[in-house]
Amino acid sequence: MFQPYAVCLDMRYYSGPMATPDRQDMPPPIPVITLDGPAGSGKGTIAALLAERLGWWLLDSGAIYRVAALAALHRQLVLDDEQALAALLESLQIRFEQGRAFCNGEEVTAAIRTPACSDATSRISALPAVRRGLLALQRSFRQAPGLVADGRDMGTVVFPDAGLKVFLTASPEVRAQRRLKQLSEQGIGANLSGLVQDMRARDERDANRAIAPLRPAADAVIINSDTLAPEQVLELILSRQREV
Ligand code: DC
Repeated sequence: MFQPYAVCLDMRYYSGPMATPDRQDMPPPIPVITLDGPAGSGKGTIAALLAERLGWWLLDSGAIYRVAALAALHRQLVLDDEQALAALLESLQIRFEQGRAFCNGEEVTAAIRTPACSDATSRISALPAVRRGLLALQRSFRQAPGLVADGRDMGTVVFPDAGLKVFLTASPEVRAQRRLKQLSEQGIGANLSGLVQDMRARDERDANRAIAPLRPAADAVIINSDTLAPEQVLELILSRQREV
């Protein structure tokens, strides 16, 4: 007897070979631009400008690691106890709203930027269980119409299928000068050669850590921002995005 076509489409009644979906029928993936690089390369500023220009969502993945570290400090966890940290992550509700950060409903925007929190963040972010525990949350930021993802391993680990991957870098001297300016704007004195040394030590540690080391994805566009103003970096990235 003739089977109506609509019945054949209902998989409960379909006994023929399974069709392989035609790639052309699948919706295109939500676009992502990843922006990775060391501290002081200017990627936070560029990522925010880029997201605004494109009207896309912004993921500041460093802020996610910072909120987790702050919660670990508040609960007085041992900062290399992977099991305790993994359990902690499951109990956290991390949320961002117009540049403000919230953890379990409490605002933590300023608290995640203190030196003590930066130090704790750098320690916990080196642990595999922490990186694994924060992966799904980071990926959940991929929403239409698109995402600009700022971090260290956005192009290599979190969004390996991103359409455009940028690795933004600058020399330790230029990054130290930018940091010095930031600190003096906050009324904090510092010494340039000490900051250059800190940058070099941190680069070495970040590039050589066992998990998610800081390095450009094989298909990343590398931009050195030493002699470029933020607007120029932005234009370079936008022109590459138009080619994608
Ligand atoms: O970008 P930031 O300075 O806010 O990052 C804070 C810390 O988190 C820094 O030590 C690097 C780490 N981090 C990371 O390991 N992976 C990311 N994707 C983002 C930040």
